[in-house]
Amino acid sequence: MIILLGCSVGGSGKSTIAQNLAAAFTHKDKSVVLVDADLRKVTTRWGNKRKRNPKLKRIDVRQHHGNIASDVALLKQQYDVVIIDCGGFESRELFSAIAVCDIMLIPFRVRRRDLESLEDMEEIALKAKMHNLSMLMFSVLSQCPTLPTQYPRIWDAEKACKSFGLPALKSKTFTRNAYDDSDEFGMSVIEYTDRKACNEIINMANEIEDIFKKMINGDAIL
Ligand SMILES: Nc1ncnc2c1ncn2[C@@H]1O[C@H](COP(=O)(O)OP(=O)(O)OP(=O)(O)O)[C@@H](O)[C@H]1O
Ligand SMILES: [Mg+2]
Repeated sequence: MIILLGCSVGGSGKSTIAQNLAAAFTHKDKSVVLVDADLRKVTTRWGNKRKRNPKLKRIDVRQHHGNIASDVALLKQQYDVVIIDCGGFESRELFSAIAVCDIMLIPFRVRRRDLESLEDMEEIALKAKMHNLSMLMFSVLSQCPTLPTQYPRIWDAEKACKSFGLPALKSKTFTRNAYDDSDEFGMSVIEYTDRKACNEIINMANEIEDIFKKMINGDAIL
């Protein structure tokens, strides 16, 4: 399974979700490779910190740049799960990864500036479908507000995503220090101390796995 994290908005949570999903699938005993396709090497640095901690389960992190389609297709034959972290802009890496991925996740914060880019992402989605008919694209709401009074903003964001043909995953991440703090040690939130953050990522990995199973079986997903 190839999962691509991409979005034209910077800082929406691509690297954080890519790293945490990589750890979640590793803990599900899948072989996982994390492809850092962003020249700023944020995920590579996370992988290097992780390597220095012998208590953590090993995750292979590799850098691929330019047209990464054939490299990624090759990795799919070697690993159960390939997760690609693309930078926050439209790039050769993003478009070549779109051509080969199974599931593309597009993180948005529940903020107007992020959601304004839904229109651009819809355009990318329409083009993507011309090159990769079988892939599925979902929004992921990231860094959601934890205050219940703010939940209507989350529901509105979900509606906006759906209206642009990019339905949101049921699982989402909320704003929690654990995401920032665990990163410092090359850890994921599932190896850290915040049970709520841990459950968010476990639920997301389970939801993606279910979607992929349905894709393989040709079952209805939405
Ligand atoms: N759920 C969360 N709660 C709190 N902080 C978060 C959460 N998700 C991400 N962050 C923090 O937000 C910042 C941006 O996240 P991240 O680097 O994952 O975004 P990105 O989309 O990869 O950015 P870029 O476009 O620059 O590659 C980081 O400091 C990260 O620790
Ligand atoms: Mg990033």
